[in-house]
Amino acid sequence: MAIIRNFEEKDIGAIIEIARRSLNTDYDPRFYISIHEIWPSGFLVAEENGRIVGFIAGVMPHESEARVLMMGVKRHFRRRGIGRALMNAFINNCALRGAKRAYLEVRVSNTAAIEFYRALGFSAGARYPSYYDDGEDALIMWKSL
Ligand SMILES: CC(C)(COP(=O)(O)OP(=O)(O)OC[C@H]1O[C@@H](n2cnc3c(N)ncnc32)[C@H](O)[C@@H]1OP(=O)(O)O)[C@@H](O)C(=O)NCCC(=O)NCCS
Repeated sequence: MAIIRNFEEKDIGAIIEIARRSLNTDYDPRFYISIHEIWPSGFLVAEENGRIVGFIAGVMPHESEARVLMMGVKRHFRRRGIGRALMNAFINNCALRGAKRAYLEVRVSNTAAIEFYRALGFSAGARYPSYYDDGEDALIMWKSL
């Protein structure tokens, strides 16, 4: 059973590995430190038997609005409710801080993530053409809190 807790600096190596494998991104450790500094309660990890198996990181760009920047769960730990637990904990922290809605961008080809966000009550909004570096469009998804 995974527990959800706040990110700590010692988790960076595991987060970089999950981001690399699940999201195909390779950010410098300083990127994770900086988003953690912006809002510590918006950066959560799922830990199972002492190992980091997933994470979510977001910010509140406006006092009533939260934005999910990244989330990922290790492949072998998917479809066990860990993503849902991470998102629920994140949304709870957003609501405690006064957010009225949460939003995120997702690649239009990422049907698994789109289905996941729909299952958690997110609705599809606008489509941003060529949002990603490789030219792929992003779908904006949002949820009222
Ligand atoms: C998206 C992601 C975080 C979901 O994590 P997860 O731990 O597997 O999700 P959960 O087990 O909590 O799933 C909750 C519900 O979402 C839906 N869902 C999750 N994955 C799904 C999939 N691949 N296809 C269809 N529906 C899915 C289901 O309704 C699921 O409930 P169920 O298992 O009872 O049917 C995970 O697939 C992942 O890390 N993907 C790669 C990284 C990524 O795409 N991140 C998002 C970028 S914007």
